Amino acid sequence: MDYKIHTPVMVNEVLQILNIKEDGVYVDATVGCGGHAMEILKRLGERGRIIGLDRDDAALDCAKELLNDYRVALVKSKFSELKEVLLEKGIEKIDGILFDLGVSMLQLRDFSRGFSFYSDELLDMRMDRETSMTAWEVVNRYPQHKLEQIFRDYGDEPFARKVAREIVRYRHKKTIDTCKELAELIRKSIPRRGKTHPATQIFQAIRIEVNKEFEELKEGLSQAIELLSKDGRICVISYHSGEDRMVKNFFREEEAKGMLRIITKKPLLPTLEEVTRNPSSRSARLRGGQKLCLN
Ligand SMILES: C[S@@+](CC[C@H](N)C(=O)[O-])C[C@H]1O[C@@H](n2cnc3c(N)ncnc32)[C@H](O)[C@@H]1O
Repeated sequence: MDYKIHTPVMVNEVLQILNIKEDGVYVDATVGCGGHAMEILKRLGERGRIIGLDRDDAALDCAKELLNDYRVALVKSKFSELKEVLLEKGIEKIDGILFDLGVSMLQLRDFSRGFSFYSDELLDMRMDRETSMTAWEVVNRYPQHKLEQIFRDYGDEPFARKVAREIVRYRHKKTIDTCKELAELIRKSIPRRGKTHPATQIFQAIRIEVNKEFEELKEGLSQAIELLSKDGRICVISYHSGEDRMVKNFFREEEAKGMLRIITKKPLLPTLEEVTRNPSSRSARLRGGQKLCLN
């Protein structure tokens, strides 16, 4: 299938991990434009169900077009509201759940969302535009030590201190308003590394902070494990080493408690063919598990 806006990543691997049952109930916690959900839907029978969640209204509008089917329910919500959403729908147990973390091309390509280095728009980066904290707030209001910490912790940026210092110095003259303005300041502060834009890691760190992505993931994973029925499957695709570490450690802890069997001893990576076809898949790491006993 040709997905025009966002190409779903590692689809075959996701389907293999989820091991779809025809009459199963599945949650796509990051429904985005609906690519993965569509592939799950194709494998469901008349009694199967998908609950697709996203915190972004634009993503849900996009998914609605593709997933116009009585077996699909789309709900605006975030990972930390997972249990609440399912409870409202009268669902106590699920057969599988997918988390495809990060942002979609729909969000990156819409310059008004303020995620892209090339955007002349105000720094924003909110996945849910109804929340109040924006990237502008982080960049212009956070003290230097806090900026340095998020650049290091969420961006693995070796020049975290230098960039934080340059941002604060610039702020003495004027606020940093647009994405382009920030990207240019970073470009001048640190040496270029390889082909990727020098601002990649800093932008990622700011996005993670704005959307509280690590806190959300931690909460989402623990709610997901509770909701899975015995033998239910969990599949997580991350695009950042910090996120992948969190998933790995969470899986190991659940395995030690006897709650989970780790299916992927090492994370699965996209094939060379996939990376060539869809370069945005290059940093993907997929981990999967099977629920062992009921809590
Ligand atoms: C990589 S995209 C998913 C793409 C999707 N799998 C597809 O095939 O189109 C990630 C999506 O997850 C959403 N998202 C990220 N963190 C979230 C959270 N904590 N709660 C709900 N949605 C979230 C984003 O808004 C984005 O639409």
